[in-house]
Amino acid sequence: MLNIAVKAARRAGNLIQRSADKIDHLTITKKSHADFVSEVDRAAEQTIIETLLDAYPDHAILAEESGSQGESEFLWIIDPLDGTTNFLHGLPQFAVSIALQHKGIITQAVVYDPTKNELFTATRGRGAYVNDRRLRVTKRLYLADSLIGTGFPYSNFAHLDAYMNILRDMMQKTSGLRRPGSAALDLAYTAAGRYDGFFETGIKPWDMAAGCLLITEAGGLVGDLQGNDTYLKTGNICAGNPKIFAQLLQVMAPHLTDGLKSPAP
Ligand code: IPD
Ligand code: CA
Ligand code: CA
Repeated sequence: MLNIAVKAARRAGNLIQRSADKIDHLTITKKSHADFVSEVDRAAEQTIIETLLDAYPDHAILAEESGSQGESEFLWIIDPLDGTTNFLHGLPQFAVSIALQHKGIITQAVVYDPTKNELFTATRGRGAYVNDRRLRVTKRLYLADSLIGTGFPYSNFAHLDAYMNILRDMMQKTSGLRRPGSAALDLAYTAAGRYDGFFETGIKPWDMAAGCLLITEAGGLVGDLQGNDTYLKTGNICAGNPKIFAQLLQVMAPHLTDGLKSPAP
């Protein structure tokens, strides 16, 4: 199943890469404030879905641009182009993200960066890789020495005040913050030990499903902003090596509004 996901991700990545020098001629639609979709997102998504359903016609799909189709205990969660804003500006930081969820558990993950030809993969229980190299999260012990990735609220500002309070604290308590603009790559980079941790509010299952398995298979932890298991549902996510994960949660705790806390079970 991972091989099929890789095939789908490479096909989509090649299509995106071929379009990267034509960005001035693309048809772009605004989905909501600062949220755009281009014909490239749609074409990449179609290629992925065709490749997956060709191999597994009975599986279900949840994809960013076309939504849900089918019913099955196997669900493919797809972001055909994560980092659309970067792509549309010619900034080479975007990726294809594909995850397979089986009976509610993410079992396969692919994040493919066609610009750098970096293929991040993981199978549950079998480790995470970039190309052929095994991934491990960092061993850094202290937040003060850590480089942390994040994503800014950009379209839905419901949690903006709380986010700004967290950001102010993080600026002073970490050794650096980064906002490159692709959550899927941010999570892959956390798995690869390029960041020590990551947090964002209000993201979608397709932004994070693959990246989360990369992190846990690389020895890291993923949770919502209180460390619980609701991130795929709430979209509020914190991740990192186990030590830094715990320290990120501590910094966030005093700033969490009810909307950012774990919902009651
Ligand atoms: C976005 C990127 C971005 C994150 C946003 C996502 P898109 O995905 O992952 O880094 O901050 O929350 O929506 O729209 O480019 O697929
Ligand atoms: Ca996305
Ligand atoms: Ca997308």
